Amino acid sequence: MQTVWVMLICLAGGQLASATLCKNYGTIPGIPGSPGQPGSNGKDGKDGPKGDQGPPGRVEHEEDMGEKGDPGQPGYPGKIGPRGPPGSKGLPGPMGPPGPEGDSGDYQATLKSAFSAARSTSSYPRREQPVRFDRIITNERRHYENRYGRFVCQVPGIYYFTYHVTSRSNLCLSVKKGRGGSRGEKVVTFCDYVQNSYQVTTGGVVLKVAVNESVWLEPTEKNSLMGLEGSDSIFSGFLIFPSA
Ligand SMILES: *[C@@H]1O[C@H](CO)[C@@H](O)[C@H](O)[C@H]1NC(C)=O
Repeated sequence: MQTVWVMLICLAGGQLASATLCKNYGTIPGIPGSPGQPGSNGKDGKDGPKGDQGPPGRVEHEEDMGEKGDPGQPGYPGKIGPRGPPGSKGLPGPMGPPGPEGDSGDYQATLKSAFSAARSTSSYPRREQPVRFDRIITNERRHYENRYGRFVCQVPGIYYFTYHVTSRSNLCLSVKKGRGGSRGEKVVTFCDYVQNSYQVTTGGVVLKVAVNESVWLEPTEKNSLMGLEGSDSIFSGFLIFPSA
C-alpha cells in the first residue's frame, strides 16, 4: 500500500521529483510524446549522366507516303547582271628592240637627195598617168618611189630633173609637180615626132621643190616610150642646193 502511494506522488511531482524522489522506486516508463513536425525538403541532387541515343524514328504507316515526284522544268535564265568593274591595268609589256641607227647629224649627210630609175617594161605608159620607172639605179635617201614613179621631196630646195628615154614613134613627155595624189601641174613638155626609128629623147628642168611636193613624168597621147634592154629610158633628179 505504501509503495503505490509513493509512485502516485512521483507521478504528480514531474520530472524533478522522479529524478530525485522516484529514482529509488523502480522503472515506470512515461507516456511517449506526440511525433514532431516533418522536416523541410532537402536540396535537389546533381544531374545524372547523359543517356544513350534512342532508335531512329519511323513513319507509322508506310503506305500513306506518296512516290517521290519527277523534278520540275528548269526555270528561265535570269536577267543579265550588271557589268562588272573593269579589271586592273596589266603590267607594261617588255621593252622593244632598239631601233635602227639614225642618220648622222652633219650637214653633208642630212641634206642629200638624188635618184635615177629605169623603166623595165616594153609596154607604153598610159597617157596622163605618171610613168613608172620601176628599176632603181640610184636612190640616195629613198626619196624616189618606184611604185608610183614619183619623186617626193623631203629636203626642200632647188633640184634638177632630167630624163633620157628611148622611143620609136611620137612621144611627148611633161614634167609635172604636185602634192599627194593630185594630178599636179605641168612644168614643161617635150615632144619628138619621128616615125619608125629608135631615138633618144631628152629633157630637163631646174625646179624649186617644197617638202612633200612630188615630181614625175607624164606622157600625152603621144606615148611611145620604150623600156627595153639596150634601149633604156631613165628618169633622174638631184638636189643642187637646199633652201635656206
Ligand atoms: C609631209 O607629209 C607628212 C606625211 O603625210 C606629214 O606628216 C608632214 O607634216 C608633211 N610636212 C609638210 C611640211 O607638209
